[in-house]
Amino acid sequence: MATSRATGRALARRLLEVSDLRKHYRARAGLLAALHGQTRSVPAVDGVSFALTEHETLGLVGESGCGKTTIGRIILGVTRATSGRVVFDGHDITALPMRALRPLRKQMQMIFQDLDAALNPRMRVRDILREAITLHERLDHPEVTRRTAELLDQVNLQSGKLASFPHELSGGEKRRVGIARVLAVGARFIVADEPTSALDVSIQAQIVNLLRDLQVRLGLSYLFISHDLEVVELVSHRVAVMYLGKIVEIGPADRVARAARHPYTSILWSSLVEKRSQEVPRTGGNGAAAWGVFDFERPGQGCRFAPRCPVYEATGRPAVCTDPASEPPLRDLGDGHSVACHFPLPR
Ligand SMILES: Nc1ncnc2c1ncn2[C@@H]1O[C@H](COP(=O)(O)OP(=O)(O)OP(=O)(O)O)[C@@H](O)[C@H]1O
Ligand code: SF4
Ligand SMILES: [Mg+2]
Repeated sequence: MATSRATGRALARRLLEVSDLRKHYRARAGLLAALHGQTRSVPAVDGVSFALTEHETLGLVGESGCGKTTIGRIILGVTRATSGRVVFDGHDITALPMRALRPLRKQMQMIFQDLDAALNPRMRVRDILREAITLHERLDHPEVTRRTAELLDQVNLQSGKLASFPHELSGGEKRRVGIARVLAVGARFIVADEPTSALDVSIQAQIVNLLRDLQVRLGLSYLFISHDLEVVELVSHRVAVMYLGKIVEIGPADRVARAARHPYTSILWSSLVEKRSQEVPRTGGNGAAAWGVFDFERPGQGCRFAPRCPVYEATGRPAVCTDPASEPPLRDLGDGHSVACHFPLPR
């Protein structure tokens, strides 16, 4: 299903384009270095490019600390990029003055992992929604009431909840209010950062279905960040896999999930594959549990995945993999499937 959806999407209009995005944080390098005022640079996002079309969901996966949230925050202007470009709906938002940015910003919103992040604990749901509805336009009371009812309907929340404070709501209800809030502001593009991780399993499915339903009804586009690979595969048209600040594979969701060409992607999904069918990972590795500790601040030379790569080991540690001048670029293998590896796994 994901393939046909992805093919149809090739005709859709490009909504977002991210080019060579970088965010290098400065971090203290230990007590001694700190005393001497030395800092190290953390390449949280290190040259990331991708595009998103209207009505599309791009899943973004990768282990903790690989830079997923930072990308979302840069796109929405919450975090400033070290370099790179973000074009939204044809406008280079990294170069626009604040005034020109405002109408575009309201179309780009974030659903935070923290259920309480966007909900003022001292405001009732009614006021949270009213504040969002009137953030960018003056509306009279009947129009606010009409719009509030419409939002409740869109996120399947009972009107009785309007009088509640956030702490009186369940996790699922808080998430629904959070979604209503971003819709109220006028979102077309939503960064959904782990939107289900803080919820009970039964509620997770409801929220996933709600997000998919809203996409169809309102034509939303999502950057869907999640550790839950099963959910990512289900909701995404395409999936991008990150490793240490870089995208190492991007393509149609079913291909990335079931016919990965990058060793990291294959291992990442192997635990899910094992769960589903007791299948042996294609790389011959034994899953994430076999991985050692890595130093995020010193990613190594050449391919960043080399210190953990089973293909590198199995092929006699080819020099090109650790050649500082040969960091593998993302190469298009056809049909919108790209991989950053000198020795992609066979089809
Ligand atoms: N404000 C900051 N200052 C310094 N380093 C930061 C800052 N924010 C994030 N980082 C570092 O940048 C890297 C990427 O962080 P980010 O939160 O984007 O990762 P993530 O992929 O979203 O992880 P998770 O899956 O755990 O949410 C991490 O090493 C993190 O420690
Ligand atoms: S380039 Fe080499 S080290 Fe990197 S993922 Fe591919 S085979 Fe492994
Ligand atoms: Mg994160």
